[in-house]
Amino acid sequence: MKSIMAIAIAIVISGTAFITTAAAEGPHDAAIKGRQAMFQTYSFNVGILGDMAKGKIEYDAALAAELAANLNAAANFGQSAMWPAGSDSETEGNLKNRALPVIWSTFPAIVEKADALKSASAVLAEQAGQGLDALQGAMGDVGASCKACHDDYRAKRR
Ligand code: HEC
Repeated sequence: MKSIMAIAIAIVISGTAFITTAAAEGPHDAAIKGRQAMFQTYSFNVGILGDMAKGKIEYDAALAAELAANLNAAANFGQSAMWPAGSDSETEGNLKNRALPVIWSTFPAIVEKADALKSASAVLAEQAGQGLDALQGAMGDVGASCKACHDDYRAKRR
């Protein structure tokens, strides 16, 4: 019995060691997928809000408020584990990774861009349910904050 426990513990420990090594040296698939999923969450919510703002679909105050709250929540995700060194598009070009190496070489400059999205999405979360005009008025800064970060830190599609 004792030896079975010892083996089980040894497996757990070596498993942990493996995970730690993998995180340090790559591949960083989980982190890359995690941040891309966050961006997809931004995009899903902003996409429907954009269609409402442009009149492509009917304005719905409750839905607009919910989508904007979702975006604001996602904009405030902690991202510490999403950007390990070595997970840039040149080192790991798999998974359609488009994160430019300049993110790491100039870090923490990118945080300013993330903060701009946080500010814009906080305003959007207040405004989106207050009528179509209010939604339209708050969308511009959100879109601009996405674009500003992509211009500097996201590679063109390959
Ligand atoms: C702080 C910088 C930053 C901000 C702000 C930002 N993005 Fe991005 N975005 C990136 C980077 C970098 C990538 C590439 C990530 C990768 O491929 O690992 C990316 C990738 C994406 C992707 C592709 C995800 C995938 O599945 O590959 C979408 C969609 C996207 N962003 C939408 C948005 C939208 C919409 C906003 C605004 C609401 C936004 N982003 C704000 C930096 C940013």
